[in-house]
Amino acid sequence: MTTLGYDPERITAGGVAGEVARLEAQAELTFAEELRILVDLGLPHSGPLVDLGCGTGSAAKRISAALPRLPVLGLDVSPALLSRAADGGVTVAGAAACALPLRSGTVGSVLMRYVVQHLPGPAPVLAEVRRVLRPGGLLAVVETDEELWGLAQPTFSGLEAVHRKAAAARRTTGTSRRAARQLPRLLRECGFTDIVVRPFAITNDQVPTHDFAIHLGPDQFAPLVATGDLSLADLSHAAYCWNRFRSDPGAWILLLGLIVAGRAPGGPARTPRRIT
Ligand SMILES: C[S@@+](CC[C@H](N)C(=O)[O-])C[C@H]1O[C@@H](n2cnc3c(N)ncnc32)[C@H](O)[C@@H]1O
Repeated sequence: MTTLGYDPERITAGGVAGEVARLEAQAELTFAEELRILVDLGLPHSGPLVDLGCGTGSAAKRISAALPRLPVLGLDVSPALLSRAADGGVTVAGAAACALPLRSGTVGSVLMRYVVQHLPGPAPVLAEVRRVLRPGGLLAVVETDEELWGLAQPTFSGLEAVHRKAAAARRTTGTSRRAARQLPRLLRECGFTDIVVRPFAITNDQVPTHDFAIHLGPDQFAPLVATGDLSLADLSHAAYCWNRFRSDPGAWILLLGLIVAGRAPGGPARTPRRIT
């Protein structure tokens, strides 16, 4: 059965190379939307921005390209992924999220993108993030929720059951794709202030249906067949449904993500923005 934690070798059927490709495709699909929200939330210009759990630096590289004056530092625990980040023009270093090699109160903002879902206990990491942030510094956590992932039309009989089995198996790893719903409370308990939740969405009106393969296609299920959590029949049904979906000219998909953000205490007072 499944093992604890995040292992880039085992997330996709393609080993580390498969995970590198998946992370890049994931950032290509939605990071422009995410960046719009991050800028709107007010990234401190003074930096540095720490992309914590940066993986291959897919987000860090895009932030550096869009905001060249903002110093960006990528930190991650995986040497295999970090080695792919090094050629992207951003500064990266090895670090575990619960023991950051940074002095207290020296960081302008921290981004954690699809990292919290892999942490068996996020609270000590959030406390460590709060330690390194300057007063008023921004923490932005990007996550999805397994029950609020989006919409797809048409639907296929039996496919939801495969997704439910996969979600249950992932939960037994001690990590959670239900992390998003816990985050406002967790941030509050760790002392963050000005907590907001901002959804972002992308549809196949904006990008081709095929670009959603990482989220809807069968590859995500292959490792769960290897661990015995899904059957070969489950995998082949998922592949059949995806092939029908992507070749249906009327198919529509909306993918939803959430940014949960908060500020380290002690910053300047902020007036909540109101739409008038
Ligand atoms: C799904 S990947 C996301 C990578 C990147 N944030 C992105 O959006 O492409 C999760 C990342 O979190 C990192 N990670 C998981 N647990 C960690 C920890 N305790 N400390 C530092 N990095 C961690 C993994 O090595 C991996 O790079």
